[in-house]
Amino acid sequence: MYSERIPPALAGKVMSAGDAASLFRTGMIIGMSGFTRAGDAKAIPRALAERARSEALRFTVITGASLGNDSDGLMAEAGLLARRMPFQVDGTLRRKINAGEVMFIDQHLSETAEQLRNGTPGAIDIAVIEAAAITSEGIIPTMSVGNSASFVEQAGMIVIELNASVPMALAGLHDIYLPQGRPGRQPIPLTSPEQRIGTRAIPFDPARIAAIVVTDMPDSPSSVLPPDDETKAIAGHVIRFLEAEVAAGRMGEELAPLQAGIGTIANAVLHGLTQSSFRNLTMFSEVLQDSAIELLDSGQLRFASASSITLSPAMNEKFMRNLDHYRSRIVLRPQEISNHPELVRRLGIIALNTALEFDLYGNVNSTHVGGTHMMNGIGGSGDFARNGQLSIFVTKAAAKSGDISSVVPMVSHVDHTEHDVDVLVTEFGLADLRGLAPRERAPLIIEHCAHPDYRPALRDYFARACRAGGHTPHLLPEALSWHERYKNDKTMRGH
Ligand code: COA
Repeated sequence: MYSERIPPALAGKVMSAGDAASLFRTGMIIGMSGFTRAGDAKAIPRALAERARSEALRFTVITGASLGNDSDGLMAEAGLLARRMPFQVDGTLRRKINAGEVMFIDQHLSETAEQLRNGTPGAIDIAVIEAAAITSEGIIPTMSVGNSASFVEQAGMIVIELNASVPMALAGLHDIYLPQGRPGRQPIPLTSPEQRIGTRAIPFDPARIAAIVVTDMPDSPSSVLPPDDETKAIAGHVIRFLEAEVAAGRMGEELAPLQAGIGTIANAVLHGLTQSSFRNLTMFSEVLQDSAIELLDSGQLRFASASSITLSPAMNEKFMRNLDHYRSRIVLRPQEISNHPELVRRLGIIALNTALEFDLYGNVNSTHVGGTHMMNGIGGSGDFARNGQLSIFVTKAAAKSGDISSVVPMVSHVDHTEHDVDVLVTEFGLADLRGLAPRERAPLIIEHCAHPDYRPALRDYFARACRAGGHTPHLLPEALSWHERYKNDKTMRGH
């Protein structure tokens, strides 16, 4: 019964998604819950897309990160999205972004709340928040926190999607803390991943609750693929590197708190840690995938802090069945806190993220295919990579059946500069770039990381570039010719 999940005083606010959708006016800025497809608003995006069949509606939609349940696709298809930030993973929306029809603001995930606090890109008109319940403590989020607490704090109106399919026992999983305003902001009082520094629920003003829509739609299941030979090899290189760090006395056996990015490869690397001898590990990450639960189950992971949990159906069922067990080992925080540069630097995070491509000197492109076309967005990778103790980027050495080399002379778009990147890894090996000048990095990257088919052409480019001179040697007219060749010939081979 949903009535147990809301205070009697708010019972009169319960209405259909269609009625709640009528509160929205074209031109509004909407803040929606949802982070890596977890805890996302589900009914309102559908109802708005339905409304857009008969009237012109355009919104700025700000979320935590990606939405699930095809919501981004439905809204994009309906033409609802004038502007969208700060992250997405949807195929339809991706096409609209790349066609220039949706203005996408690709942003570090820790920054959105800060910008909203400063008044850009404008005030949130309506917050749409999925909740497990509204109690005397506040709004209990579901499987993500994302930017929800900031949206609730700032929005003129709040629409709650009360998801009756998630257990109310999620209460206690979350820790809501928002930084103070400036000037005079105090340090965030968090010195270890398991620490709780806030409240169990999102504080709210009941007068601003405009509607409560009852739903029972589950989160979209995780879409990561199981580990394959290449991702297993990548995981092996990372584990041996971390073992060497311990042997060299740079870290203890429990390592430092781990962050692992979204996607198949990062999940596989973390899964690979179940085969390692590491114990007493912690995570300070933004998303927990199946691999985090596997590490908790193997007893190797002591505690995990994040902003969302995205699981496969089987793992989700297990998580919900053993909620009491996991709730004492996991905390979900606002993404401003899970990704906060102050905390990432203080805790000395080992950041593990995925590149689309990297270049001879260690610059990384994680977002733009061929230099122009948005894939997903930078997400939190920059929050962690720039500020972590160790910044590791992984990728397969080649994409599209070997026709794209992931190691190129010059990346076609830079998300993580050579200054932010410590270690590069592919299935062929690992390049530790720490303490090396650009001319010292290139041979390591070519011989350890590049696909053997592309090594001769990379060696040749580097040798000729060195003859031309420079601290970071390049032949500018040729530097992006590999991408041009793929565009024209559908292969980078032949250089
Ligand atoms: N050029 C073009 N396409 C490339 C490519 C390249 N250099 N490298 C990979 N790809 C393609 C793959 O072929 C694959 O395409 P498909 O979906 O059509 O099969 C797709 O990119 C995904 O690559 P995959 O190897 O399956 O890796 P992944 O699922 O781990 O995703 C990223 C990799 C980079 C797209 C993903 O990690 C991402 O969006 N990262 C940025 C955000 C981020 O790092 N967040 C971290 C904090 S959450």
